[in-house]
Amino acid sequence: SRESTVSITVVGASGDLAKKKIFPALFALYYEGCLPKHFTIYGYARSKMTTEQLRTTVCQTLTCRIDQSESCGEIIEEFLDRCFYHSGHYNVEEDFAELDKALQQQEVGGRVANRLFYLSIPPDVFVDVVRCASKCASSLKGWMRMIVEKPFGRDLESSAELTRDLKQYLSEEQIFRIDHYLGKELVEDLSVLRFSNLIFEPLWSRQYIRNVQILFSEDFGTEGRGGYFDNYGIIRDIMQNHLLQILALFAMEPPVSMNAEDIRNEKVKVLRSMRPLQLEDVVVGQYKSHVKGGIKYPGYTDDKTVPSNSITPTFAAAALFIDNARWDGVPFLMKAGKALHNRRAEVRVQFRHVPGNLFKRSFGMDLDQATNELVIRVQPDEAIYLKINNKVPGLGMRLDHINLNLLYADRYSREIPDAYERLLLDAIEGERRLFIRSDELDAAWSIFTPLLKALEVRRVAPELYPYGSRGPTGAHYLAAKYHVRWGDVGSEPQNAQA
Ligand code: BG6
Repeated sequence: SRESTVSITVVGASGDLAKKKIFPALFALYYEGCLPKHFTIYGYARSKMTTEQLRTTVCQTLTCRIDQSESCGEIIEEFLDRCFYHSGHYNVEEDFAELDKALQQQEVGGRVANRLFYLSIPPDVFVDVVRCASKCASSLKGWMRMIVEKPFGRDLESSAELTRDLKQYLSEEQIFRIDHYLGKELVEDLSVLRFSNLIFEPLWSRQYIRNVQILFSEDFGTEGRGGYFDNYGIIRDIMQNHLLQILALFAMEPPVSMNAEDIRNEKVKVLRSMRPLQLEDVVVGQYKSHVKGGIKYPGYTDDKTVPSNSITPTFAAAALFIDNARWDGVPFLMKAGKALHNRRAEVRVQFRHVPGNLFKRSFGMDLDQATNELVIRVQPDEAIYLKINNKVPGLGMRLDHINLNLLYADRYSREIPDAYERLLLDAIEGERRLFIRSDELDAAWSIFTPLLKALEVRRVAPELYPYGSRGPTGAHYLAAKYHVRWGDVGSEPQNAQA
């Protein structure tokens, strides 16, 4: 047969990400019939484990959206039959040569044999694995691609160094840098919303938009990940990648087409138009322990893997600016934090007030406050809603600030795929639209590196906030400096369930 085979090697198969995200996503893709006909999955890690043991672990951790009670036991078995394990070191070429032999055994039938590697490993062994795999386990007939996941360095220099190292062994086309936020349904929807609706694109500029807010919060702390986190902090962990990617998609100029290079060209342009972030436009915070309802929630430095005098931020708020014609003067406010009062990721677009509003005085409502706001809620409870002013039905004339609502759970019966499903499928298909190009990564680091250095050099102390709170009050002063009010401080959408 002239059909090709694909082998997917998950390097770091015994790790958390592999168990929680990668294997479940691969299974979901298999279940949906999205994987190529001839595929093999290999787990590779240092731990000594048999294929049987890997299968057991994978089976026990298939926590994906597919309801496994619904007679899919057979499908799980079929899937597990295609999963294998190979143990080896990350820096030993012979071990990868052995893996190569094992892969070849599955790549039978003289078919074109494509190979995808997913590097789910700590950054200090990235380059070793790339070297060994590309020298000893790359495909002779077919493509070889590598998915890599952050951290991509700690700043512009170390990131550029990593890129240089990777490019000793791989071409740009072979590197698939994941930012899993780009695989989220509503992040992908941003472009559809904007470019396929006449009513949005004309408003998408400084003329009508007063500010844009990109918000991320989690209601849990670093819980066991302190060792990794303390070396990075929330700005590198969330802002420089996930939130900035959302910003770039939101603010880019219309691309020539929806092709990967056209989109990425526009993203790079908008990132390069951004002002490097200044210390005075940033507020950093760190959560401290807090007792609530008789339960003591730990502070960040209570984590055993975190130095007790750490000043690593677990919260940050920032005001960013894009110095181009479309966005001149419009503040893009970002806020990201761990151990806050809720878990949520959303984009809020606050529009300007209606000039000379007729209703301003007559009806007692402050229409300077009651401006339109478009909210794109990435998670949880995916939704798009638009705050509008409306007349309360009845004989009188009373105005209401209310939501036009698209709550996904109500309108679409389909399950929303996990971000990793989409991204893995794209990598298999060679679709690069949702992966980060080198120049894009450089541009992203250029915005944050001066700030990160300044925070370190000056040892800026984070403002402490109680675990489970709304974060440091400094964030409000920062927003106020640009005449902005955070959109997530008010009440929940009144008719969210409607
Ligand atoms: C990761 C961060 O990239 O994203 C984590 O390293 C964070 O700190 C996670 O918890 C959030 O992802 P999600 O998809 O759960 O919102």
